[in-house]
Amino acid sequence: MTLHQKPNTIKLDSFWMPFTANRQFKQAPRLFASAEGMYYTSVDGRQVIDGSAGLWCVNAGHGRRQIAAAVERQLMTLDFAPTFQMGHPLAFDFAERLAEIAPNGLDRVFFTNSGSESADTALKIALAYQRAAGQPTRTRLIGRERGYHGVGFGGMSVGGMVNNRKGFPVHLPYVDHIRHTFDLARNAFARDLPAHGAELADDLERLVALHGAETIAAVIVEPVPGSTGVLPPPQGYLQRLRQICDRHGILLIFDEVITGFGRLGAPFAAQYFGVTPDLMTTAKGITNGTIPCGAVFASRKVHDALMTGPEAQIELFHGYTYSAHPVACAAGLATLDIYRDEGLLTRGAEIAGYWRDALHQLKGLPNVIDIRNVGLMGAVELAPRKDAAGARGYEVMVDCFNRGLYMRTSGDAFAMSPPLIVEKSHIDEIVSILGDAIKRVA
Ligand SMILES: Cc1ncc(COP(=O)(O)O)c(C=O)c1O
Repeated sequence: MTLHQKPNTIKLDSFWMPFTANRQFKQAPRLFASAEGMYYTSVDGRQVIDGSAGLWCVNAGHGRRQIAAAVERQLMTLDFAPTFQMGHPLAFDFAERLAEIAPNGLDRVFFTNSGSESADTALKIALAYQRAAGQPTRTRLIGRERGYHGVGFGGMSVGGMVNNRKGFPVHLPYVDHIRHTFDLARNAFARDLPAHGAELADDLERLVALHGAETIAAVIVEPVPGSTGVLPPPQGYLQRLRQICDRHGILLIFDEVITGFGRLGAPFAAQYFGVTPDLMTTAKGITNGTIPCGAVFASRKVHDALMTGPEAQIELFHGYTYSAHPVACAAGLATLDIYRDEGLLTRGAEIAGYWRDALHQLKGLPNVIDIRNVGLMGAVELAPRKDAAGARGYEVMVDCFNRGLYMRTSGDAFAMSPPLIVEKSHIDEIVSILGDAIKRVA
């Protein structure tokens, strides 16, 4: 296959695409052939600006030579090494470097290959911790409505995106959910964090009263839910959630698969909000989206509670063949170098104001019912058509792609998160293409 090829010459049947309307897509495929900096090039040779950093993961922009070189070097030096009862130096170096930028005290790092694996790993560590800490009745896991924690059985069970759950009726037992914080009536068009809704954290008290704190192991939330359409937390909400967890001995897990690695203008959302969880899940930006990798960051309290018993005994019967894969570690270390050298983990803070103001210019366009932003995340939400939720959003997304903008849709909301190298001119381009598409699609 050549780089730029007519879509109708590509055979589309065999690839069963994830999270895609396969039959619809294959009638009119949208295919990328290459990428550089802020732009994809489609197979028919058009430039398409990346409004969503791939899938919230290409934080340093596309085509970073330094990462490619590190990957090639690593493949030729040590292509694979086990990390079960064996090791390789890069794994330890990478964990140390991650610990340096981690939120306060979260400096023990368990490697996975994806956000889904990170979520399931964190849930399992939470259960193992409670057992080791002498609280074996704490087996209940609490998620939140509208949450997304990947597609494993653990993540799906604590997740709260209805379509991701209802097609698969077997879930983990002993799971419950607190209410989501999305409140269009009170918070539409809020700039940055919405003013109303901190009290929704108290919903955890309801579940404590219902089930008993002594049955609850952990609560998992995304500091800013992304896949469900970018929902910045109400002011004070996360602080209140932390307090309630502390009051009842419940571990707090932040799923930072999207918010990690500079998305909000701080290395992690925990630092941005000044709230430190007990466990934190990451993936995506950890290798700039180049090589699958994820990591769970654990507090010393959680980690050390499990470092007990005979020293010859495995402390946590959990891990993946590719945990700390040498190539992923090489890609990750090169990525961290770029983040450090270019100041990308805090750059979002400089440009977030411009991003916010540009997005909010779309207020008043037809069908726009909400605009949300925090850091370099943003969403524009359209009113659903009667009896056809998601149709308007899909048409706008296709129109944008045809005119040179790629972004994620979640129903009728557009969820945006450009690479952190984004310049003001790129933001103008994204907003202008999106605004025109919204006007065109009735
Ligand atoms: C918050 C969150 N957790 C977990 C995941 C799952 O990550 P993956 O697709 O790498 O398994 C995602 C993916 O978007 C996510 O946004």
